[in-house]
Amino acid sequence: MKSPLWPLLSISVVLATFYRLADCYDPRDPYGNVTVVFDIHKWTDDGYLARVTIQNYQLYRHVDKLGWQLGWTWAKDEVIWSISGAYATQNGNCSSFMDEIPHSCLKSPVIRDLPDSSKENRSGDRCRGGVLSAWAVDPSESFSSFDIRVGRLEQNTRGYPPLNLTLVAPGPGYTCSPLIDTDPTISSDIGGRREVQVLRTWKSACSYSSILAKQTPVCCVSLSSFYNPKVTGCPSCSCGCKEADQKADSCISKGNHLSQSDALGNPDILRCSDHNCPVGIHWHVKNNYVDYWRVKLTVSNFNYKRNYSHWNLLVQHPGFSQNTIVYSFNSSLLPTAGLEDSVALFWGIDNYNSELQQAEKDRLGSVATDIILQKNRDAFTLKDGWAFPRKIYFNGEDCQMPLPDQFPTLPNDSSGLKASAGFCILVIASVVALLFGKV
Ligand SMILES: *[C@@H]1O[C@H](CO)[C@@H](O)[C@H](O)[C@H]1NC(C)=O
Ligand SMILES: *[C@@H]1O[C@H](CO)[C@@H](O)[C@H](O)[C@H]1NC(C)=O
Ligand SMILES: *[C@@H]1O[C@H](CO)[C@@H](O)[C@H](O)[C@H]1NC(C)=O
Ligand SMILES: *[C@@H]1O[C@H](CO)[C@@H](O)[C@H](O)[C@H]1NC(C)=O
Ligand SMILES: *[C@@H]1O[C@H](CO)[C@@H](O)[C@H](O)[C@H]1NC(C)=O
Ligand SMILES: *[C@@H]1O[C@H](CO)[C@@H](O)[C@H](O)[C@H]1NC(C)=O
Repeated sequence: MKSPLWPLLSISVVLATFYRLADCYDPRDPYGNVTVVFDIHKWTDDGYLARVTIQNYQLYRHVDKLGWQLGWTWAKDEVIWSISGAYATQNGNCSSFMDEIPHSCLKSPVIRDLPDSSKENRSGDRCRGGVLSAWAVDPSESFSSFDIRVGRLEQNTRGYPPLNLTLVAPGPGYTCSPLIDTDPTISSDIGGRREVQVLRTWKSACSYSSILAKQTPVCCVSLSSFYNPKVTGCPSCSCGCKEADQKADSCISKGNHLSQSDALGNPDILRCSDHNCPVGIHWHVKNNYVDYWRVKLTVSNFNYKRNYSHWNLLVQHPGFSQNTIVYSFNSSLLPTAGLEDSVALFWGIDNYNSELQQAEKDRLGSVATDIILQKNRDAFTLKDGWAFPRKIYFNGEDCQMPLPDQFPTLPNDSSGLKASAGFCILVIASVVALLFGKV
């Protein structure tokens, strides 16, 4: 295939520059945002009843344990008389109220979801402790909502949208647009025969920026292949250096238990490693068949004090455009815009490996799968590190990749490794077996 490489290269340089300028733009999830909607469905004597819905439209970034926190500033002197399905973290100064005491009198309240275990005021399955699934993983668990009764509105007004919406989910990084009036939300009634619209709808979209989040990296990628005994480890100091970073000082070597004080104190204790990451991803190119190739993908947890429940892993690789069989993870292809590679999202299978367990004395926590990918003969090659992933994200966080000059390379005389039609795979397999003494 004679591909016009130069135009492509220059286009991608231009695109890359554009992406960097428009920081919020992510080609792996161009429309990703968390939408916050206030639906006013009833006027009251001094205010209104509204349902507030937080919908995670991000394809691969979820809202993890500790949950979302939504804050805003009232435009006037409003108070929250009551909330169901969530709570305000502070009630503030309500000393001017006599009979009924509002749930919160703060000018800038902060709302959190009820704890997971809370049965109180649970309607349906709306309360999950503020944890929201990524949209591509499970849309039915990607939203939460609560009802508020707002009061002390000025007479004869239809309310003012709250100002300066803030979303912490559960860390920083989100910027929310102002709440603005949009078409009223419509729902159906009487089995879909009647449409009902709310009185007024305000909407805001919150977008994530890793630059704003300023997270230290949480994961790194290591690589290996059947054709080279070299294992390319994670880049050292991927997630901070021990010398530079006091927090990383306390790590535990393999075979040692958590000490009593570690077990109680520090929030995170890691297995000692060069990379200092809590999570390591390993991509092993395992086999090269005539029509297929096989990869083993392993996710390891180096943290002694954290289980990652509902983890997900995004892998960008051109090979996913072909038929793919994934043995032990759930998976889905993501739509991409302006990316030549395909992007696959992986997550655990319920009651099997949807929880990435904490590290123990003798072993890391881990989940793994084999993946078989069909070959596109025009593209497939073992040369130039093609078989290794372009990018990997764990729970929405960019993982540190080794530099391409560190990738395991093909042995020098290896033109035969590119399995072409009519070339017998067994011959290759035995050559490899002879070279490396393993099958
Ligand atoms: C937020 O996401 C939804 C669903 O993907 C999309 O329709 C909407 O345009 C997005 N909003 C913004 C401001 O990007
Ligand atoms: C639960 O609902 C009741 C009545 O609907 C209300 O009085 C109470 O404050 C609510 N509790 C919470 C935590 O929202
Ligand atoms: C609480 O509010 C009342 C009236 O709004 C005010 O007089 C009082 O000083 C406030 N108390 C505090 C501690 O801010
Ligand atoms: C909203 O945020 C802007 C910028 O941070 C600030 O200037 C403004 O005073 C805030 N408005 C309110 C009502 O808090
Ligand atoms: C992680 O899961 C294991 C097994 O379910 C449990 O014993 C352990 O306490 C959990 N660790 C944390 C930090 O929640
Ligand atoms: C894969 O994920 C989907 C959506 O979350 C779920 O319905 C399905 O049961 C999962 N499959 C397995 C094998 O867990």
